[in-house]
Amino acid sequence: PKAEPCVLVIFGATGDLTWRKLIPSLFSLARKDCLAEDFRILGIGRREMSDDAFRDDLRGRLTASGSDKGTAEAGAFTEDAWNAFAASISYLSGDFFDPETHRRLAERMKDFPGANRLFYLATAPSAAPEIVRRLAEVGLNREERGFSRIVLEKPFGHDLASAQELNRLIAEDFDESQVYRIDHYLGKETVQNVLFFRFGNALFESVWNRNHIEYVEITAAESLGVGHRAGYYDESGALRDMVANHLMQLLALTAMDAPVSLEADSVHDKKSEVWRSIRPMTPEQVASRTVRAQYVAGTVGGEQVPGWLEEPDVPASSRTETYVALDLRIDNWRWAGVPFYLRTGKRLAQQVTEIAVHFHKPPLSFFPCQDCFQSNVIILRIQPDEGISLTFGAKQPGTSRRAVPVSMDFCYQGNFEDPLSAYAVLLLDALRGDSTQFTRGDGVEAQWRIMTPIATAWAEQDQEPMPTYVAGSDGPHQAEGLLEWNGHAWRSIADARWACRI
Ligand code: BG6
Repeated sequence: PKAEPCVLVIFGATGDLTWRKLIPSLFSLARKDCLAEDFRILGIGRREMSDDAFRDDLRGRLTASGSDKGTAEAGAFTEDAWNAFAASISYLSGDFFDPETHRRLAERMKDFPGANRLFYLATAPSAAPEIVRRLAEVGLNREERGFSRIVLEKPFGHDLASAQELNRLIAEDFDESQVYRIDHYLGKETVQNVLFFRFGNALFESVWNRNHIEYVEITAAESLGVGHRAGYYDESGALRDMVANHLMQLLALTAMDAPVSLEADSVHDKKSEVWRSIRPMTPEQVASRTVRAQYVAGTVGGEQVPGWLEEPDVPASSRTETYVALDLRIDNWRWAGVPFYLRTGKRLAQQVTEIAVHFHKPPLSFFPCQDCFQSNVIILRIQPDEGISLTFGAKQPGTSRRAVPVSMDFCYQGNFEDPLSAYAVLLLDALRGDSTQFTRGDGVEAQWRIMTPIATAWAEQDQEPMPTYVAGSDGPHQAEGLLEWNGHAWRSIADARWACRI
């Protein structure tokens, strides 16, 4: 179904997120005829600009040779399609911290047809509480004649206390049902498919527990560095940037029980149960079950790259981790004793995001060689080369009595059309009022309950040398040790080969 008529107000309209993600995604939705006739976009930014200048600026960025990411999301650019879309865009200049801006915004809203509004906060996180309060002051939080929703970008706080405080402030002016905390991983087709794979097939769910599964690996390896975001990243680090949101979501989707329905609250309830079942680590557990590290200079994809401490805008004393590996335990009946290994990092050998579910080995092997039987592994490949694979052992043809690993592979490409971008999917959900693929306030807090003790223990170890890894490698050797003492091993990042690679 199409989105309802609505005015989408973007705070931070001249920022990166707007032109890289939001506008290309909205443009693609317009071209697929998913937006209502009366859909309008109002950008708010500090810079003085006319409506036309704002449209021209966006158009320039969308078509600039350097922004092919944007155009890839939007689809091939045509003048006619852009002109039709751009007619819905207007601009208001003002300081978000100035009450006058919000008064002018409230006035401007009267010019638009309909009474539905969606406020997208594409701003620095520190601006969010202020904007929320000012919107309420001018009554734009009220849902008298139509809906009023806000979309918030991560980070949702930087620890448990700040996340609770942010939730409290938002709750003063907005009901939870009006709040959409976006995690773009949840808009990815392959991430959404985890639930369909698990609960749409009786075969897998019946073995999806501690009786059959030995351990689970969740990897989000990036070959890229931090680009021009070193300032932000130095404050955040891999734990807050990736684990506290994207990886926690992947873990919840892998481990949650079946929701009673796909209604937002049913899904959120089950995810929260998973996060609440993970006991916060003691400082001793942080020492033995977590690894953090920084990359040093190396070669990634044939290109020589500097180390983290040599990146522009990174202080030489930075102790920010660019890599994290964790061994988390979910203390519930389904998962007791099953390690969930999570790892993520910048400047690793190649980009691989996957969930690998390792099953127990057969109880007895009557084949002559020791390692003939590897365990079965189900790999949900999130990106790139999206697909699902099941590895199993097969008899090596001939007179041999060896078993060799083989796999059954399903590839998205060739089987399905190109999906909408993650942002397009989530924007459409927010416009339609479906918050299933967003994060509820209690979920954010539950995630921080797990992350905060880790960050705190690390901060207290500031005298210890920071482990390192060479850019372009699989990560620090300490991460191997994390699994070794359980008799497990990470799947290789550098050698990750995949049937769906074309
Ligand atoms: C963002 C992080 O949320 O996700 C970035 O801030 C990271 O540091 C990015 O690179 C990864 O997203 P994707 O979709 O490229 O896997």
